Amino acid sequence: MTPLRRGEPLTWEGRRTHVPGIIINGAQWGDEGKGKVTDRLGDRVDFCVRYSGGNNAGHTIVVNGERYALHLLPSGTLNEGCRPVLGNGVVIDLDVLFTEIDDLAARGVDTSGLMISANAHIIAEYHKTIDKVTERFLGKAKIGTTGRGVGPAYSDKVNRIGIRIQDLFDESILRRKVEAALEQKNHLLVKVYNRRALEADEIADHLLSYADRIRPHVVDTSIVLNEALDQGKVVLFEGAQAHHLDVDHGTYPYVTSSNPVAAGACVGSGVGPTRVDRIVGVAKAYTTRVGEGPFPTELNDERGEKLRNDGGEFGTTTGRPRRCGWFDPLVVEAAARVSGFTDIFLTKLDTLTGWEKIPICVGYDVNGERFDKLPYSQTAFHHAKPIYEEVEGWTEDISGARQFSDFPATTQAYVKRLEELIGTRISGIGVGPGREQTVMINDLL
Ligand code: IMP
Ligand code: MG
Repeated sequence: MTPLRRGEPLTWEGRRTHVPGIIINGAQWGDEGKGKVTDRLGDRVDFCVRYSGGNNAGHTIVVNGERYALHLLPSGTLNEGCRPVLGNGVVIDLDVLFTEIDDLAARGVDTSGLMISANAHIIAEYHKTIDKVTERFLGKAKIGTTGRGVGPAYSDKVNRIGIRIQDLFDESILRRKVEAALEQKNHLLVKVYNRRALEADEIADHLLSYADRIRPHVVDTSIVLNEALDQGKVVLFEGAQAHHLDVDHGTYPYVTSSNPVAAGACVGSGVGPTRVDRIVGVAKAYTTRVGEGPFPTELNDERGEKLRNDGGEFGTTTGRPRRCGWFDPLVVEAAARVSGFTDIFLTKLDTLTGWEKIPICVGYDVNGERFDKLPYSQTAFHHAKPIYEEVEGWTEDISGARQFSDFPATTQAYVKRLEELIGTRISGIGVGPGREQTVMINDLL
């Protein structure tokens, strides 16, 4: 496959000569280091768009030795000259939004250019309450959510009783909608969960208190982004969560309630698929997962412990220790296939330094049957035993590598083998948290 390059002619009714829309997607279960890739594209990005999820995300970015953890705003917020956008597919907790804005302001980051879709849904207090009580109620069958109210807010959206950002500008509608939403929920809270009923007025007052502050940020993101693309601006759609947390394509029901896959970028921001030409899947050089659900290559022993400590694998959002295991090309292949990755960016390769041998999963054994691709059956996936091949590890410090040839031969062989098994080219490799600690093989823009 020859991927399109920036500047290459591709006309669509003669409206443009190149397609600068680029999507960045997590290829595993989240926390692949997507923020690093966004940050790496840096100055070349004019708009950085979040299109799904809410403040369940956690992007850690290190800029000039300063560490930032963003939960709701896109990581491009930290790049001067880049307009951050929250698309219609995002669910917004207004308390979190303005806390994040204020915290950044205190550190000298200007977010006045932030644009928010009028159609984005709001996470209200009751969504958070319900997220927590339902998880508690599920007991051992819990999903392991982040408890931020994300699932219940999306449920209301699909159930057509959600509250949208634009509702903040029509007080009587907002009050009516909050009342309607609470009518069912209060029954549930009081009769099923033994909780106190919530006051519609209190909740509406609180939401309305943000109306004036949010108004200057609210736009139709579809118009803004399509115009930007018409003008040849670079628009980066930054995925949150990841492929296997997608409600349609992930390890259902152990998923989030939105569509982090590449197609979700179009739905969640109002841009057509023809306007995107580059889709970069981000995969960690091993695998991690937070929350419950199947994970065939998980290591429940001191090796998993070592990966967790070497990689600092603790959640940015909840602080939970992440489950760790070997790289699983079947997991990444599924993501590459469904989202149509043009490139893969491999992160945290330096974390694997010091292993004598590194196992790579090449298939699953499910009760004697071999699978070379992810089985469609949840039961089969739960029982999948990884079949491994082992490659030689390396002990050299690779954090200073800046080109592929700087790597020891065994490191190169590991990367090449992953590429072969996934079937998509690896175009960039992260070797440390810093912006410059990157090996680029093919340009992403
Ligand atoms: P929710 O998104 O809070 O409903 O959580 C559903 C599942 O997705 C849980 O397993 C969470 O741990 C996981 N999850 C949600 N957001 C992220 C993320 O940004 N990174 C990793 N896991 C996530
Ligand atoms: Mg994260």
